[in-house]
Amino acid sequence: MTGLLALSGGLRWSNAWMAALLMALSPAFGAQPPKPAFQDTLAQRVQVCFACHGEQGRAGPDGYYPRIAGKPAGYLYNQLRHFQTGKRRHNLMTRLVANLSDAYLMEIAQYFSALDLPYAAPSAPRATAASLARGRQLALQGDAPLRVPACAACHGEQLTGRLPATPGLLGLSSDYLNAQLGAWQAGARAGHAPDCMAQVVQRLQASDLAAVSSWLAAQPLPPRPQAAGPALAPPLDCGSHQAVPAPRAEPTADSAAGGRYLAVLGNCQGCHTRPGAAPFSGGRGIPTPFGTVFSSNLTPAASGLAAWSADDFWRAMHHGQSRDGRWLNPAFPYTNFRHITRADSDALYAFFKGLEPVEGVPPPHALRWPFNTQLALRVWRSLYLPNAESQPAPAAQSAADAQRQRGAYLVQGLGHCSVCHMPRNALGGNADMLSLAGGFMDGQSWYAPSLRDPMDGGVQNKPAAEVRQLLQSGRSGVDRTSGPMAEVVRHSLQHWTGQDIDAMVAYLQSLPQAVSAENRTAPAPPRRVWDRGAALYDKHCADCHGTQGQGVRGADGNWAYPPLRGNRTVLQSSPANLMQTVLYGGFGPSTAGNPRPFGMPPYVLTLSEQEIADLLSYLRAAWGHQAAPVSAVDVQRLRDGAAR
Ligand code: HEC
Ligand code: HEC
Ligand code: HEC
Ligand code: HEC
Ligand code: HEC
Repeated sequence: MTGLLALSGGLRWSNAWMAALLMALSPAFGAQPPKPAFQDTLAQRVQVCFACHGEQGRAGPDGYYPRIAGKPAGYLYNQLRHFQTGKRRHNLMTRLVANLSDAYLMEIAQYFSALDLPYAAPSAPRATAASLARGRQLALQGDAPLRVPACAACHGEQLTGRLPATPGLLGLSSDYLNAQLGAWQAGARAGHAPDCMAQVVQRLQASDLAAVSSWLAAQPLPPRPQAAGPALAPPLDCGSHQAVPAPRAEPTADSAAGGRYLAVLGNCQGCHTRPGAAPFSGGRGIPTPFGTVFSSNLTPAASGLAAWSADDFWRAMHHGQSRDGRWLNPAFPYTNFRHITRADSDALYAFFKGLEPVEGVPPPHALRWPFNTQLALRVWRSLYLPNAESQPAPAAQSAADAQRQRGAYLVQGLGHCSVCHMPRNALGGNADMLSLAGGFMDGQSWYAPSLRDPMDGGVQNKPAAEVRQLLQSGRSGVDRTSGPMAEVVRHSLQHWTGQDIDAMVAYLQSLPQAVSAENRTAPAPPRRVWDRGAALYDKHCADCHGTQGQGVRGADGNWAYPPLRGNRTVLQSSPANLMQTVLYGGFGPSTAGNPRPFGMPPYVLTLSEQEIADLLSYLRAAWGHQAAPVSAVDVQRLRDGAAR
């Protein structure tokens, strides 16, 4: 009913027109100069950024994509964090950085900050003389009656920024500047509290914002465009230009005792935390085909678990019933959590009761009739709750048996793998609610492959050490975890103890195999599709993935760019994940085993739906592949689905 990617609520491509605008504004997009030979460097890892921000991040003032080279590192780091947490919204930026650690984001910020590149000449102003005069006044003097300080008071006398985290305002296009000021007014962008830019912008009218943007965009850069030192007395109290916040503590198994570790196993924090809000304080919207369900506050506040007893908590986890008797929506995966032992439930309860209380009542669920009724939940429960029973395990005959049983307990219970990996009927149910036979994640256009089919997502035929590496670090050999699975790895699996990972792997490898032949012996696409697809591959993909889809290895021997020949993501019966990857790109998860992943560029702005269909049909037929072709309608449907 849910999934972690959808949880990143701000990810949706809400503005289709914005895509069109960006395309129109960036004629150079996609027409990159030939790339130098592969080197295992940070520049290579972040090559994906150049696609939009220009070679080395120096985008000129003519396009919308802002320059990032040379900005204060603290500012860049804050922005990357804000895209991740939803303080600042842009679908593609958010998806790109969604699974990167704070440490890696800081390294990327420092890399771009250290680049000292020439600026392009400013564009000719497009505003009236009166408007430019007003813009100049705001920038250099401010407007005392409106209580607006001069922009230069914070952004530096030369308007080239201030350390540690106030950006320069020169060398940016007026479209970009105006859009940012508008985003602050509309609440689509925020800085650290107290957010001084929000106050500045609230005091100005749209015409003032346009005036200052036009004036700024027309200014040449001074000979030494470096950022100034920190402001001694900023004119407004300001959270963003003071300091860069410490990296977030990640929930780790090591720091963990009992309940905290169990909460990591169950990834409770992912669903029970709104972007940017206190952990476990609830209110996150979980999309389902029946509407949006909001998670509860699990902190011991009056609006959370303050009045709950261990029995109440067990009733919720095991029976899906709230303290007041209300049946809970199965977007809360109690169909899985009901398998945990009472001892584990009590340990979780103790952990939540020990948290700092944070008040916050989640919004009411936004479900369509009749799914918003208790009667519907009663019917649903009578149909599917019995199907969520697991087989009672026979007494273990050997250590290997006991290990597999622990694995089954983890996969079926706290790990709640079937929430995504189960095929669902129109009511979101299945004759076997613990099925791992593969399914589409509701409303999200991601396919969680069958863990029973080794040609799909199954791991039965791989060496155990490789499967362990895949699930713990997010990559192994050719295999990559991406999208919602990358989030599972980053927020949960990488923190599991070695023993628990091994138990899970042993269980996954023991799953009975069910191989589907569907779509695996398709005829080659027509000649013209093949030719168009091959040409697109050579132009856009071969630099990284190799002319024959053979991939490129990094200095540590792992694949920097995974081979596409024989790749399961390319060949899967459903092309959904392949389309997701090529449309939206992204990085694998930063984990201890792969802290600095390489990035894959998004192509949603570069290639048309027909071009993507041709390219993917070619990929699915090249190099001896025989997977079914992809149509432009498939691509369009997925793109619209991801845009909802
Ligand atoms: C698909 C195009 C695209 C790609 C690829 C891309 N960006 Fe962006 N980026 C944007 C857009 C568009 C904005 C402006 C967003 C907005 O309107 O707030 C932006 C904004 C930013 C900002 C904020 C700049 C500022 O001055 O406030 C930073 C920092 C940034 N990107 C870094 C990166 C990094 C690092 C990468 C590579 C990992 C990257 N971007 C890749 C499109 C892209
Ligand atoms: C009190 C200090 C202060 C004043 C006054 C101020 N700013 Fe800012 N401004 C900031 C800080 C701090 C940030 C960085 C916010 C963040 O990290 O999100 C910022 C960010 C910005 C950005 C985003 C830049 C980018 O690359 O995306 C723009 C645009 C901007 N300010 C324009 C202005 C204009 C125009 C004025 C004058 C009308 C102004 N600011 C006045 C402190 C100030
Ligand atoms: C896939 C998302 C998801 C995950 C993972 C998840 N929850 Fe929830 N949880 C929800 C949603 C949504 C609700 C609200 C259901 C409702 O109100 O009908 C909820 C409700 C609850 C409730 C009932 C609270 C009340 O007020 O009735 C408890 C207790 C709870 N979750 C505990 C947990 C624990 C413990 C974990 C981790 C082991 C966890 N949840 C993981 C989505 C999730
Ligand atoms: C939030 C939804 C979600 C949950 C929960 C989830 N998965 Fe996945 N999983 C996916 C998606 C989507 C993919 C396909 C993308 C990919 O290959 O990474 C996937 C892929 C996989 C793959 C194949 C990876 C590859 O590259 O071949 C394995 C194995 C897997 N999941 C195991 C698990 C296990 C074990 C669990 C429970 C601990 C789990 N998943 C929980 C969504 C999920
Ligand atoms: C700048 C280098 C680069 C370019 C250009 C590039 N890719 Fe990628 N690609 C990557 C990286 C890095 C990954 C692995 C990302 C990860 O770890 O999740 C990847 C992953 C993939 C995957 C997923 C593989 C898997 O095992 O899940 C597919 C499919 C893919 N790319 C196809 C393409 C296609 C098609 C093109 C051309 C349209 C292309 N790539 C262009 C770097 C690139």
